[in-house]
Amino acid sequence: MKRNQENRPKRMTVPALLKKKQQRQKITMLTAYDFTMAQMLDAAGVDILLVGDSMAMVVQGHENTLPVSLDEMIYHAEMVGRAAERAMVVVDLPFPTNHLGIHSCVAAAGRILKETRCQAVKLEGGADQADVIEALVGAGIPVMAHVGLRPQSVHAMGGYKVQRDEERLLEDALAAQNSGAYAIVIECVPIQIAKLLTDRLTIPTIGIGAGPDCDGQVLVVNDMLGLTSGYVPSFVKPYANIATTVNTAVRQWCDDVRGGTFPDAEHSFEE
Ligand code: KIV
Repeated sequence: MKRNQENRPKRMTVPALLKKKQQRQKITMLTAYDFTMAQMLDAAGVDILLVGDSMAMVVQGHENTLPVSLDEMIYHAEMVGRAAERAMVVVDLPFPTNHLGIHSCVAAAGRILKETRCQAVKLEGGADQADVIEALVGAGIPVMAHVGLRPQSVHAMGGYKVQRDEERLLEDALAAQNSGAYAIVIECVPIQIAKLLTDRLTIPTIGIGAGPDCDGQVLVVNDMLGLTSGYVPSFVKPYANIATTVNTAVRQWCDDVRGGTFPDAEHSFEE
């Protein structure tokens, strides 16, 4: 349902996020991959919807985030972009877009902003991505950086491990900020290091498995709603168990159909 112009909620913007950090108001971000979920999250007041490349795992069933393509990201970003009225929508640059050279990365990010109603892109990397971030920002594309555990580098990192190299993390975060990133995801980092980064940066930090001191928090929505059937990281708190609710409802429906009690008169038409 579309709200009319006067009742439209105020859209989350890059300056509004910065203000939230300055005023010590926490930022909320959840992943979204389709219209229905994005509409629910937007209505619940989530500040940022991330069309994450985690989609490769939780939607497409792959074992890591590497296989999802740019066209697939755009297809899902269109759905989320159509649903969001208040939230900022950020789209992950899928592997290996930001390693293909500045020209093709700006072209890919440009496609995302032109073809979806989304406002920003996220890329994994810090110091090594400084020139790419600078070029995107120069083209007017807001960039969220992502340091710490970088799932697209799972093979190089030797698995999904907590990242403890304080010096490297600080160098990456500062490089991302100095290159013009407007926010930064910090994934799987000890509380103390995430706090240090948050204190040192003027841009908002958004943590996942990085403790309570970040300026905001992000989770994969399927994990926090109990929709993920396989492994769920230990830093995820389950706020619902939707898989069980679906299982119960569908079993009941199957029983009713097989027992001849559905559809009944109330759910059928007379001549
Ligand atoms: O792809 C994703 O869902 C992410 C979050 C885990 C931050 O990058």
